[in-house]
Amino acid sequence: MDVFGRGKVILLGEHAVVYGRPALAAGIERGVRARVTGPGEMQLAIRPWGRDVRADESDELSRAFAAAVAEQPNARSVRIEVDVDLPAGAGLGCSAALGVAVVRALASAAGEAPSDDEVARRALAWERVFHGNPSGVDNTMAAHGGIAVYRRGEPLEPVRAKKPLRLVIGDSGESASTRVMVEGVARQYERDKPRTEKTLDAITALVQNARLAIEDGDVRALGQLMDMNQMLLGSLMLSTPALEEMCATAREAGAAGAKLTGSGGGGCMIALVADEATGERVRDALARTGRRAFVAEAR
Ligand code: MEV
Repeated sequence: MDVFGRGKVILLGEHAVVYGRPALAAGIERGVRARVTGPGEMQLAIRPWGRDVRADESDELSRAFAAAVAEQPNARSVRIEVDVDLPAGAGLGCSAALGVAVVRALASAAGEAPSDDEVARRALAWERVFHGNPSGVDNTMAAHGGIAVYRRGEPLEPVRAKKPLRLVIGDSGESASTRVMVEGVARQYERDKPRTEKTLDAITALVQNARLAIEDGDVRALGQLMDMNQMLLGSLMLSTPALEEMCATAREAGAAGAKLTGSGGGGCMIALVADEATGERVRDALARTGRRAFVAEAR
């Protein structure tokens, strides 16, 4: 039986969420599929990456796998194979989707069907190996999907969208480390706490208004809020010339708004579009500038 961990986009509120602020996030259809292929020596094979690790090895992936195994009561020693349909290190929650899929595979081997909340909790142990002090938004969305407001330590708040959200996701092709980007913001916070707090407050206000815009089906307002969030992320030095250029291309092609998604410093941007035809136009405009892009829907 295949089990799944979902990729995600952060619609608004990345980085602020690390400081206990709310973020608006959405699961996407792409993700990671895992299956137990039989008894084994606690092995994990990530087929597209040609990686085959064991839980008792010392590299990062093996340690993350061991952390997930440690969370599984009565874990059975198995071999798990994984297919990945997400770019890694690109802000789409690839590592969390991987963690969630592995947690679900371990649970199925032990004859258990944990709740999404419990899957997310176990997958946080996996995420900590890669990201140090993650907010928990990625593993929570990878387990639950949907559109939701996430706040550290609080139950996930599903958001009822009046209309499905159409997004174009474009990959800058630059890879960035979430850990390094989060540390960069932490340094700014230490250097100038009042200014950084003001920026985080402003992002919080945008997230709150964006939730209302989604509930009202107001694509124009949501797009404007995303643009404003992008400016604030830029002021925290999280954007790059490539991401700025991609956001501008998307807006020129008709997107209602565009911003980086995830840690920034590279990785992906998202553009909000009102309809399918605009989505295709934006995707094609990004493709003409040499960027990989695809259309996604969040509901
Ligand atoms: C990464 O997808 C989102 C960040 O806010 C980090 C985190 O929430 O742990 C940058």
